[in-house]
Amino acid sequence: MKGILCSLAISILQALGAPLKSKSSSASKPPFFILAGDSTTATQSSNGGGWGDGFLNTTLFNGASGHNYGHNGATTVSFRAGGDWANVLATVESVSADYHPFVTIQFGHNDQKVAANISVSQYTDNLEKFVAEVRDVDATPILVTPLSRRNYDNSTGHPAIIEDLADQTAATITAAGRSGTAVIDLNKASTAYLNAIGPEKAWSYNLNADDHTHLNVEGSVVFGGMVAELIQREFPELKREGFLRYNDK
Ligand SMILES: *[C@@H]1O[C@H](CO)[C@@H](O)[C@H](O)[C@H]1NC(C)=O
Ligand SMILES: *[C@@H]1O[C@H](CO)[C@@H](O)[C@H](O)[C@H]1NC(C)=O
Ligand SMILES: *[C@@H]1O[C@H](CO)[C@@H](O)[C@H](O)[C@H]1NC(C)=O
Repeated sequence: MKGILCSLAISILQALGAPLKSKSSSASKPPFFILAGDSTTATQSSNGGGWGDGFLNTTLFNGASGHNYGHNGATTVSFRAGGDWANVLATVESVSADYHPFVTIQFGHNDQKVAANISVSQYTDNLEKFVAEVRDVDATPILVTPLSRRNYDNSTGHPAIIEDLADQTAATITAAGRSGTAVIDLNKASTAYLNAIGPEKAWSYNLNADDHTHLNVEGSVVFGGMVAELIQREFPELKREGFLRYNDK
């Protein structure tokens, strides 16, 4: 009976030319970006700050929105154990009627620390588990390789970025390949950009003078824009529909 009423309602709506709301029409809903990650994603604070707020503040339009769950010091293990991941999934559920939820997942800076005792293969598995759970709640996962630190090697005359996140970058790409997930290579893009601008300019984005990891507000806007550019390459419809824009530098 319910089914008959429902299909009757649908035919009436179709006759009236009303747009049907269903899961399959989610592409035209504005995106809601839920950012999971460590301090290089997190809101600017006394000891943390990443690209997340710059991305949310300056690149989303036309009803697109989001929330930054970046957590200072987080690993793929602590983010789950401390309850942040549950908040990410709960947010997916609460926005999915009105938005197409995307979850960006970027870790590595703390997972790589010896004290964390997280092997590269555990890290890879943890990322794949995040991806599977995002899909289970009908959201779109985007894996993000870790933002480069701004440490330069001067030994060659031309200062070059010291690439110290290579294992976590490769593992993130592996996790994406195994799970068939979109991945943006923020590590590669940020490293190339930092090599191009050199240390003096790069350090103008430091949260504090000697902090070569965390970003101030200006840095958050620059690297948030880079994330938007990389995402729109993977999801060109977000640009086409006017949801995602960034300033070409
Ligand atoms: C984002 O916007 C908030 C509210 O206007 C502001 O306080 C914060 O500094 C902004 N952060 C960035 C990185 O743009
Ligand atoms: C590190 O992790 C491994 C495997 O999970 C565990 O067997 C080992 O006890 C841990 N080591 C330390 C020092 O916590
Ligand atoms: C590398 O070069 C920058 C400026 O070009 C300088 O400020 C910095 O101290 C140098 N770092 C090392 C480790 O020598």
